[in-house]
Amino acid sequence: MSRILITGAGGGIAKAIIPVLHELGHSMLLTTRSRSAELKAFLDEHHIDASIITADLTNEAEVIALFTWVEQQGGIDVLVNNAGVAHAAAAWKLEAEEMEKLFQVNFFSAVRCASKALPAMRANGFGRIINISSVVAHKPSFGTSGYAASKSALEGYARGIAIDVANKGITANTIAYGYMEAGMLYDVPEAMLEQIKTTIPKGRFGDASQIGHTIDYLINSPFTTGQTLHVNGGQWMP
Ligand SMILES: NC(=O)c1ccc[n+]([C@@H]2O[C@H](COP(=O)([O-])OP(=O)(O)OC[C@H]3O[C@@H](n4cnc5c(N)ncnc54)[C@H](OP(=O)(O)O)[C@@H]3O)[C@@H](O)[C@H]2O)c1
Repeated sequence: MSRILITGAGGGIAKAIIPVLHELGHSMLLTTRSRSAELKAFLDEHHIDASIITADLTNEAEVIALFTWVEQQGGIDVLVNNAGVAHAAAAWKLEAEEMEKLFQVNFFSAVRCASKALPAMRANGFGRIINISSVVAHKPSFGTSGYAASKSALEGYARGIAIDVANKGITANTIAYGYMEAGMLYDVPEAMLEQIKTTIPKGRFGDASQIGHTIDYLINSPFTTGQTLHVNGGQWMP
């Protein structure tokens, strides 16, 4: 069973997948930027033994400290780059400076973490990098150009990593979620959610715990690399 580092572990989707990964026998190290007390209470409530560290992943020094801690904890086999922020702004109002801030969280946090995780994975001859993207990268809605761009960058990054480490037992993939019943979904106005639901053939939002099984699939799939897995109720099809 694997040892997984999940970023953005205080968020809604992470809280849906952590119990599934625990049930499947994986152990976890968790990072949160601001919700460690809440996350600790959640783990206690679910009788899950996992260590938590607080880190702002836009800060290089904090990510270096995070990976020093990871090594002290015995290292990881799997990195799930889940931390992310949503952003709504019409393209004509989205200046480069604001876009850069969005990329700092949604894209560069993954680069900071993956670049620090990969040397040990290469040395071990095994590793999994799993980036979290969104259906919005493929089917944007109004005001999502920045979010879509930052998530698209993550997908290209996973494909590039996959090539660089293919001969070292490491895979790199992306899971592009559709609208899941958790986390940032609840930031979307209710009327818009109802409209979005009409575009999902399944007729409902996804159960976020399913992502735990998708992560487990990728952990156990050495021949699946450089791919984007779409989990979106049929809302978008490649
Ligand atoms: N919910 C959906 O329907 C949906 C659909 C597609 C994709 N996604 C993606 O799924 C991932 C999780 O989303 P969610 O719905 O669970 O959202 P969420 O509840 O808002 O959680 C986002 C997490 O990212 C963390 N984060 C934000 N900025 C950070 C920073 N600078 N440094 C470190 N951590 C930071 C947050 O940290 P703290 O709260 O600890 O401060 C939080 O734990 C995101 O990448 C999102 O884009 C979600």
